[in-house]
Amino acid sequence: MITETAESLYERMKAKLARLVPDAELRYKAGIAAEVLALKAERDAVILAHNYMEPALFYSVPDFQGDSLDLSRRAATTERSVIVFCGVKFMAETAKILNPSRTVLLPAKKAGCSLAESITAEDVRGLRARFPGVPVVSYVNTYADVKADSDVCCTSSNAAAVVESLKSDTVIFLPDEYLATNVARETGRHVVFPTRTPRPSQDGLLDVQMIGWTGRCEVHERFTVEDIENARRQFPDVVVLAHPECSAEVCRASDFSGSTNAIVRYVQEHPAKRYLVLTECAMGDNIAAANPDKEMLRICSLRCPHMNEITLEETRDALRLNRYVIEVPEEIAARARRALERMIAVG
Ligand code: 13P
Ligand code: SF4
Repeated sequence: MITETAESLYERMKAKLARLVPDAELRYKAGIAAEVLALKAERDAVILAHNYMEPALFYSVPDFQGDSLDLSRRAATTERSVIVFCGVKFMAETAKILNPSRTVLLPAKKAGCSLAESITAEDVRGLRARFPGVPVVSYVNTYADVKADSDVCCTSSNAAAVVESLKSDTVIFLPDEYLATNVARETGRHVVFPTRTPRPSQDGLLDVQMIGWTGRCEVHERFTVEDIENARRQFPDVVVLAHPECSAEVCRASDFSGSTNAIVRYVQEHPAKRYLVLTECAMGDNIAAANPDKEMLRICSLRCPHMNEITLEETRDALRLNRYVIEVPEEIAARARRALERMIAVG
């Protein structure tokens, strides 16, 4: 397999990123990217990169870039021996569950997620005992054991479709409080949070069509309606795009809410010249690089510390040192796989 030289990588990256990344940094990153590509070929690896990856990584080494759903599908079908997941741990675990014979590497040791950490499998079993027979939908931003105790998973791309596919009056939807509220609104449901309402069954379970949990994304929970109002005051023509992990108030005050891929597509397909992106700042950079005629406003004081652990340097070291290998015990993986495959079948 022929790999690119540092010089040709530098030219390719410069064509996309000259306005966003200083030249000296581009040259340095191109050198690391060339090492990554050589190691990728040597190890027969595929590199999957979430939309939140830093621009120098996003526009150099990945075979595929996308949102959680997209990358899960790519992971499930790759024939390469090694999957390097440039994202966070729950995403790498999902790849391992869907394609267990591959070696899956996460380039940072931790790269967690506040949503995944907000709920345990024991919590899920507790809810099942409390609401017998009610199907459990778990956001893909959960760890393998939580998925294993769920009926079906969803991502922000397909959450409403997954809920509707269950044809059940009442659904347990975990663990993101804000995503649950937004999906409840989209599917015409009423949502309660049992950790706040101690005995929702006494309020009449038949009236409670979505039972949520109170996990939150530590990044998206911090965007406010005031941020939107400030941007609109300064730039009356701005189009506001919010990820559905933002609060219902923020999503309502925005012009569009959707998964990271849906936000990328929205900017590509609309003629407006200025956008405010309420999600991880690096994605605003990546969209700006692909749409040089459009201005992307972003709030870079709010970053995902977990996604930001993944860099070109860590990706190179992951391939060189075979780290950090993701393992999921088969007993858990088999049950989690059912929930994930059911989600992929919904679309
Ligand atoms: P997407 O599935 O929309 O890419 O979102 C993943 C995520 O973690 C957003 O914070
Ligand atoms: Fe998790 Fe939020 Fe980071 Fe996404 S942005 S990985 S939901 S902490």
